[in-house]
Amino acid sequence: MKTRWYKDAVIYQIYPRSFCDGNGDGIGDIKGIISKLDYIKSLGVDAVWLSPVYKSPNDDNGYDISDYRDIMDEFGTLDDWKEMLDGMHARGIRLVMDLVVNHTSDEHAWFVESRNKDSEYRDYYIWRKGRGKNGKKPPNNWTSNFVGPAWEYDEESGEWYLHLFSKKQPDLNWENPKVRQEVADICNYWFDLGVDGFRCDVITYISKQKGLPNGKVKFPIIGQEKYTVGPHYHEYMHELNQRSFSKYDSMTVGESIGITPDNAGEAIDERVEELDTVFSFDHMGVDFAMDVLPRKFNLAKYKKILNRWQQLPKTCQPTIFLENHDQPRCLPRFVGDYKDKRELAGMALATSMLFMRATPYIYQGQEIGMTNCNFKEEDYLDIMATRVFQLIKKYFPPLMPYAKKVMLKRARDHARTPMQWTDGENAGFSTTKPWMLVNPNYKEINVADNENREDSLLNFYRKAIAYRKGKDVIINGEFSLVYPKDKNIFAYIREYQGRKLFVLVNYKNKPVKFKMPKELTFTNANLALSNYSDSRPAPENMTLREYEAAVYELE
Ligand code: NOJ
Repeated sequence: MKTRWYKDAVIYQIYPRSFCDGNGDGIGDIKGIISKLDYIKSLGVDAVWLSPVYKSPNDDNGYDISDYRDIMDEFGTLDDWKEMLDGMHARGIRLVMDLVVNHTSDEHAWFVESRNKDSEYRDYYIWRKGRGKNGKKPPNNWTSNFVGPAWEYDEESGEWYLHLFSKKQPDLNWENPKVRQEVADICNYWFDLGVDGFRCDVITYISKQKGLPNGKVKFPIIGQEKYTVGPHYHEYMHELNQRSFSKYDSMTVGESIGITPDNAGEAIDERVEELDTVFSFDHMGVDFAMDVLPRKFNLAKYKKILNRWQQLPKTCQPTIFLENHDQPRCLPRFVGDYKDKRELAGMALATSMLFMRATPYIYQGQEIGMTNCNFKEEDYLDIMATRVFQLIKKYFPPLMPYAKKVMLKRARDHARTPMQWTDGENAGFSTTKPWMLVNPNYKEINVADNENREDSLLNFYRKAIAYRKGKDVIINGEFSLVYPKDKNIFAYIREYQGRKLFVLVNYKNKPVKFKMPKELTFTNANLALSNYSDSRPAPENMTLREYEAAVYELE
């Protein structure tokens, strides 16, 4: 029976490689997570989304899986994993695993077999003859999300295989019923071990357009539109739901490029029985999860996008996130030059996201306001940044300074620097030199320091999450924007059975005037939360201070 627990849940994302190293080899692992379970519990979150921990050669840090039923050696063993799950459940925290089934690793046994044309696994992947005289041109013009052609030639069989990510991540052929059954079996395997849900990686890519037609050339990304929400997408998701998701009290969230407020009903309405929720990327100002092209933040546009999701029918549950392992840190992106007001700005962002009608996700380090890192070229380790640099150096060397500038703002590496636990050696992440550069600002930004200050960002997150818990007005209330076009203030009202919640946030590092709208009448006001100790007890015409954020209960 589905209890839809996720409607009143806050979910914390862990990127295991960078969270905590338990065995002193410089790489985050499951033992490290176990050692931080009390910390996670102290945040008040209800569930953890754990990025992949399965066996993987790590071409894309675990998003290239070579065995779906076992744990990566660097992260520990299945027994460690079970201990972690028990530890979470004992603390009332659910576990949402990452499900990466658009593609496998090229080292997965299925793909190794599939290289043989006569194998029954050949049709588990998307193999095609090439174009041109000798078939030496790829079957179509699609490019991978990591830049360059989405096809790799296999000398032995004289055919090409499709990979929408790196060439070590061959796409599965979901048209093959055996593949779909394998995926359902994998999900049920983990459900039977006790997991509570899945975050489904690039799930809208699973059904490709019939005949794999050429895409429109949009350098450096080509033909995206040809591989999202293909003709059988809904059929496959409903089937997976019936074979697996619906049998458990689970929650699923799709990384669903191509699902918009206009078509969300077809994908997440409770009645269609596919996924429960999706992540969309429109509010992040990107066209898809790994889009690195820089764009300017516009608050009015941002509010408009979020509002469209908020207005979905009650049978569709939105999500909200500001960070994840593919996105740079949220502060510079949303609040501009925060200077010495980093924590106030972090509180402003927390306040505006946590009280929407949505399941909020907080990414590790967001709760202490971790920032982007001032990387040198050699510090980047992620396949995205390193490939872009490599290709630019080869084909357009004069563009290197520009590429470096872009990566300083947009590389995925920014979210992957080790979690800053203390101001001690290696930021308390590991006893050895970590696999990746620690952001030098750990001396100033770390969990231990936040714990010591009552008014820290971390403690603000704790208060806000605790305040959110179990409140009907937040879980079910109507959402309406106040001054939707205002470029400085993000304000909204939540309303449920006569109770109102008014959320008021200044997004700017300067004082901003606020005028109470006439229609916002009340007889009683209670200041429930704010990031200044002396915010006004009731909303009225006022000047909001730099990044001032307040939540009022109105009657
Ligand atoms: C989306 C994941 O979030 C990202 O980290 C990964 O590189 C791609 N999917 C490929 O699995």
